[in-house]
Amino acid sequence: MAGFAGRRVWIIGASAGMGEAVARALSAEGARLILSARDEAALRRLAADCGGAEVLPLDLARPETLADAVAYLRAGPPLDALICTAAVYDPAPVAEIDPQQAALMVQINILGTLEVARTCPPLLRDGGQFVLFGSVAGWTGLPGGQPYSATKAAVNNLAETLAAELHPRVDVRLVCPGFVRSRLTEKNTFRMPAIISAEEAATHVLRGLRGRRFLIHFPKRFTLAVALLRILPRGLALRLTRRMG
Ligand SMILES: NC(=O)c1ccc[n+]([C@@H]2O[C@H](COP(=O)([O-])OP(=O)(O)OC[C@H]3O[C@@H](n4cnc5c(N)ncnc54)[C@H](OP(=O)(O)O)[C@@H]3O)[C@@H](O)[C@H]2O)c1
Repeated sequence: MAGFAGRRVWIIGASAGMGEAVARALSAEGARLILSARDEAALRRLAADCGGAEVLPLDLARPETLADAVAYLRAGPPLDALICTAAVYDPAPVAEIDPQQAALMVQINILGTLEVARTCPPLLRDGGQFVLFGSVAGWTGLPGGQPYSATKAAVNNLAETLAAELHPRVDVRLVCPGFVRSRLTEKNTFRMPAIISAEEAATHVLRGLRGRRFLIHFPKRFTLAVALLRILPRGLALRLTRRMG
């Protein structure tokens, strides 16, 4: 998209972190926003700062709430973009995974995102952007990162499928951040290389959306190192990742 002024953009996952930072950056450029997540109070505070954006609370773990939002938006003008950042994060070594937490993570990160992908593209105008947030965590399996990293691998994979299936009517994009400061990464107790702020991440996202590349990844000093790990012979890559445990 060349510019965002006057564009109608729906952000799912807007109440915190990168979704909120992207909302603020788009609003500063004159976009008209629809803000979704579970925390309605946080969305209303953000909407007040974003020139009276619309607030549409929903929970990706409850598909009927997404269906209600889709039905409401279908009655309005088409969207120029839909950006879905929503996900939850509770990583652990596999033997220590809480099965209930794992099921919820699969429900929100995979099935919730899949439901967005299944039902929302018709809301976009021709040439509109459909933007999913995967992660470099999905590029290779690392110790202590499951099942979150598997859910992000699923989103990365889903975006690739959609880019083929929806071309040329919809411009599908995949955002794969490295480490970004948010309540999500607050849970990490290890040193996070090349971590950046959510505001810096939003700058990368908007620059990527103005450009033409399917994959938007940042900060490159970190994401390119993970990309290298992915293309190394598996035996060598596994010798390196064992040391990260
Ligand atoms: N931070 C990082 O370092 C990093 C790195 C790589 C990829 N990512 C990905 O980037 C995206 C954004 O991450 P972030 O760091 O900004 O996380 P965050 O600060 O935790 O924000 C996540 C957003 O998702 C929403 N959300 C969570 N569960 C939801 C549900 N069931 N239904 C609707 N909305 C829901 C949250 O709002 P409510 O709680 O109000 O629902 C919140 O607005 C995620 O997809 C994450 O996997 C993050």
